[in-house]
Amino acid sequence: MKPVNIGLLGLGTVGGGTARVLASNAAEIARRAGREIQVIHAAARGLGTEKPQGTEHALLTEDAFEVVNNPDVDIVVELIGGDSPARELVLQAIANGKHVVTANKALIAKHGNEIFAAAQAKGVVVAFEAAVAGGIPIIKAIREGLSANKIQWIAGIINGTGNFILTEMRDKGRDFADVLAEAQALGYAEADPTFDVEGIDAAHKLCILSSIAFGVPLQFDKVYTEGISKISQEDVTFASQLGYRIKHLGITKATAKGIEMRVHPTLIPEKRLIANVDGVMNAVLIMADRLGPSLYYGAGAGAYPTASAVVADIVDVTRSLTTDPDNRVPHLAFQPDKINDTPILPMDDVETAYYLRMNADDKPGVMADITRIMGESMISIEAILQKEPAQGESTATIIMLTQRIREAQMNHALAAIQKLKSISGQVTRIRVESLSSN
Ligand code: HSE
Repeated sequence: MKPVNIGLLGLGTVGGGTARVLASNAAEIARRAGREIQVIHAAARGLGTEKPQGTEHALLTEDAFEVVNNPDVDIVVELIGGDSPARELVLQAIANGKHVVTANKALIAKHGNEIFAAAQAKGVVVAFEAAVAGGIPIIKAIREGLSANKIQWIAGIINGTGNFILTEMRDKGRDFADVLAEAQALGYAEADPTFDVEGIDAAHKLCILSSIAFGVPLQFDKVYTEGISKISQEDVTFASQLGYRIKHLGITKATAKGIEMRVHPTLIPEKRLIANVDGVMNAVLIMADRLGPSLYYGAGAGAYPTASAVVADIVDVTRSLTTDPDNRVPHLAFQPDKINDTPILPMDDVETAYYLRMNADDKPGVMADITRIMGESMISIEAILQKEPAQGESTATIIMLTQRIREAQMNHALAAIQKLKSISGQVTRIRVESLSSN
């Protein structure tokens, strides 16, 4: 059978890795796909005189539109990232009747509804396994492996850079900026690393997970997003003393009132397997009604892990080239006419437990004031820890764990505590999840 022709957009960390994997594992990949797969055209900026490994037989250009408009290209592999021109390139490829493979989570999270509708109308596939959790085949697991189940919730460590930073802070007491620089040098971090540390990258991925788990449109603007930039060494240490680890989690949950979509630092019991996922590794914990919990673990970033998912998509698309477009796995797991409008729950209505840390004057009545406010807000306190003031200091650190309560009630109580004259500085609030099966 005639080889499948790939047009590769981007030859950076992931694009270069993909070209090398396609070349180095060519025979094994062809045995699986049923056809040879060859890169015939690639686009990248700043091309040198030497062709990168895996593109030796390809035309190279700096104009990515040349690739998507090349009539000999069967599958366009978009690995340039970002919104634009990725969106225009992908839509042009679809308009030209080409299948698309992408690792671009921002593109899918923000423009996926438009892109999938265009692909559906043209009868082509847009595959995006590498967009979430790098090399872990999590899209395939949810869309296909778990299709018998109602998914109840998903909690994932889905940003390797953030997990690497939190791990190094905990294990080595390293400085935030220093660890981030290392993640950038290793090729894990986004082009704009604020996407990693402010939770935007995880929010892109969570929004995709939520849609394929619950059959709702992609709604990136409704993800509550908080990053790790305000997590201090103190919180990491106190969490550990209380038997918890701080992880940056993406959580999506089906509740009676709507779907939760939130990304934030979270205290989780240290005995959970997912609490022990360290470094740049990712893990996704899924609670499904018939399977129960299942955990998916692996490298979430880096050239070869991401290329592993990209190439798996290329193989999948190659196999489906001759199949009836109406019988392919739907882009968002559910048939396009069965995507529903279950509301996304506003953050105010989300229920979690909380870890609070505050600095209070070391004098009589302060603790009584704080607990009175908590009581008036109907917040039950689970544990309290007070550290005596350091020598020469007049404020003491108070740590509290609360029971589960609506976010709006906690916001109300925190506003009142923050106004107390005896409280100095900002009260730190980190959400707590047990991640248990009940
Ligand atoms: N910056 C991302 C991360 C890369 O650190 O997880 C993979 O999406």
